[in-house]
Amino acid sequence: MDLGLKGTVAIVTGGSQGIGKGIIKILLKEGVRVVDFDVKNPDYEIDYFKVDVSKKEEVIKGIEYVVSKYGRIDSIINNAGIESYGAVDETSEEDWDNIMNVNVKGAFLMAKYSIPYMKKQGKGVIINIASIQSMAVQKRVAAYATSKHALLGLTRSIAVDYAPQIRCVAICSGSIRTPLLEWAAEKEVGKEHIEDKIREWGEVYPMGRVGNSEDIGYLTAFLLSDLASFIDGTCIVIDGGLISLIPISSPAR
Ligand SMILES: NC(=O)c1ccc[n+]([C@@H]2O[C@H](COP(=O)([O-])OP(=O)(O)OC[C@H]3O[C@@H](n4cnc5c(N)ncnc54)[C@H](O)[C@@H]3O)[C@@H](O)[C@H]2O)c1
Repeated sequence: MDLGLKGTVAIVTGGSQGIGKGIIKILLKEGVRVVDFDVKNPDYEIDYFKVDVSKKEEVIKGIEYVVSKYGRIDSIINNAGIESYGAVDETSEEDWDNIMNVNVKGAFLMAKYSIPYMKKQGKGVIINIASIQSMAVQKRVAAYATSKHALLGLTRSIAVDYAPQIRCVAICSGSIRTPLLEWAAEKEVGKEHIEDKIREWGEVYPMGRVGNSEDIGYLTAFLLSDLASFIDGTCIVIDGGLISLIPISSPAR
């Protein structure tokens, strides 16, 4: 499908694997020129610049690289994120700070240093990869869930401060099959039962499965396009129906 994105320039953070890699795959199909900012090398062919999104100097260097090479930045997809498990009293201050620094400050820094270029161009789109944990929470993910709630505040702030030139939209995703999800499954049940655990999580979803990274890629491509030009400051839920479900059984008729 031609969404009119051909030749535009996008930065995807955390694009070396998982959801970011899926987003890049779909954007490349649409003819977008994409740069991956990640701390880890990608295992596929893509323009890659090593950036830790929580470090201001690295973000600035990365953005300068993109502007000097491509002359513009049409969109950024703030996807880099990390997770840890624990209720508040189980969460170390270090874990809390790491999660906030990558998941929230990282998106802030990327926006802060790209927006001036988008303003000059008169147009830009920022997508924040949030989570259904921006609206409801699992047990024992206090720091992660808080960071994903915070991303909605950042999304709304950017939207109202820079409309109509710059749009900002959050994607609130349910479980997606990625190395992060596999890590979470392994943590719970051990390496040999990862598949069973992911299938079990999938069965909770009305759609009967967890998502895949291309599901997020297609939504991202649409949101970047002018077809989505009236979508701003909100979050789009993509969760196979999960948060519509109240997990309480109904009696037979
Ligand atoms: N997988 C899911 O079920 C799910 C659900 C909802 C939201 N999300 C969100 O989607 C995003 C991607 O998740 P994923 O499952 O693909 O994770 P992942 O761990 O598989 O991939 C994340 C990528 O981000 C990179 N990264 C980590 N810290 C970074 C930093 N400081 N600077 C730059 N890059 C960094 C990693 O190297 C990795 O390549 C995250 O923000 C996550 O919170 C994931």
